[in-house]
Amino acid sequence: MLITNIKGLVGIHPKEILSLRGNEMANLPVLENAWLLLEDGLIKDFGSMENLPSLNAMHQTLNAEGRFVFPSWCDSHTHIVFAAPREEEFVMKIAGKSYEEIAQAGGGILNSANKLKSATEDYLFEQAAIRLNEMILQGTGAVEIKSGYGLSVESELKMLRVIKRLKNTFPIPIKATFLAAHAYPTEFKENHQGYIKLIIEEMLPIIAQENLADYIDVFCEKGFFSTTETDEILIAGAKYGLKPKIHANQLSVSGAVQVGIKHQAVSVDHLEETDEEVLHALGHSETIATLLPSCSFYINIPFANARGLLKNNAKVALASDYNPGSTPSGNMNLVVSLACIKLKMMPNEAINAATMNGAAAMEISSEFGSIAIGKKANIFMTRPMSSLAFLPYSFGQTQAETIILNGEIYNG
Ligand code: NIG
Ligand code: FE
Repeated sequence: MLITNIKGLVGIHPKEILSLRGNEMANLPVLENAWLLLEDGLIKDFGSMENLPSLNAMHQTLNAEGRFVFPSWCDSHTHIVFAAPREEEFVMKIAGKSYEEIAQAGGGILNSANKLKSATEDYLFEQAAIRLNEMILQGTGAVEIKSGYGLSVESELKMLRVIKRLKNTFPIPIKATFLAAHAYPTEFKENHQGYIKLIIEEMLPIIAQENLADYIDVFCEKGFFSTTETDEILIAGAKYGLKPKIHANQLSVSGAVQVGIKHQAVSVDHLEETDEEVLHALGHSETIATLLPSCSFYINIPFANARGLLKNNAKVALASDYNPGSTPSGNMNLVVSLACIKLKMMPNEAINAATMNGAAAMEISSEFGSIAIGKKANIFMTRPMSSLAFLPYSFGQTQAETIILNGEIYNG
């Protein structure tokens, strides 16, 4: 496929660049008035329209006229396998109920776990597939998906098998993350070691044997998993080769970031609550700081200190956190808008964070997350746009118009 008259070909980083930190994130190379050639599912070549090569008629040609071409969004943090939405909690929140009150009324993560218990694998797959398809049509071309609404051996495995089926069905890379340490099930409320034992001795061996997960996650937070408990679970995961990607500092400065860095986490995610020590630690680490601004927006918690992270030279990624409780949306265009509006990230920084660094947070940035010769042809073409900044400016809309995966147009 040959795409011509591209108003701006976005994110043409040199192929050897695998992630960006601090000041580097302001650099988003764009080639104006460009062409892009895709062959065998890969980016074959690109250049300026002044030097358009004469190609044989074998190529399907797409005239981009007035449109931009982006590398697909790389959404590195989602929970899209769930049995049912939780709009009743949304209404309770508007009426002024706190998170604790909602949980006591049978809401929260345990509510999702309860609903998932009776759902069949087929049903969960169908529902997740609908969500994933919608995300892809909004420009997402690589995704991470977590378990964590199972909270029992049977249901955690059920979730991970659903993710494996999604991997085998969809034409995009999918990373699976094992998150049994998302909340303590009621029967283990007073017996934390009992549940941790279940995770370590019962779940992890089967997951490793069936190759069901790429990463391990823990919701390290007051009232959920302590730093000591997180430490124990991450050590056990490492024995099976599972690198951590953890939920850190969502509700408090908890020490979670430091535990993550100690275990060489690929990313620490959320970071709504940080102090100078956390910012400094991430600035001196390879661990990616993944921010989830649509979660802050939806549940009215503070927005992460992206400027502080960038000033300290951290690697910042953006992801959706799509889940039924804190973020019922997988719209990455909205995430990028919120990053600009609320985190004060510049459009260039936000786009790099949602593409290149998102790919890095899934360890796939050698193949995804930018436009470079030899990388996978997962891209999207926008609607006609007056400038690059129009994408985050057009708050609440999705500018992705034509989706191309592995060099072919994807219609859903
Ligand atoms: O990333 N914080 C933990 N987990 C999810 C929310 C889970 C839920 O409420 O269902 C999050 O925000
Ligand atoms: Fe999450």
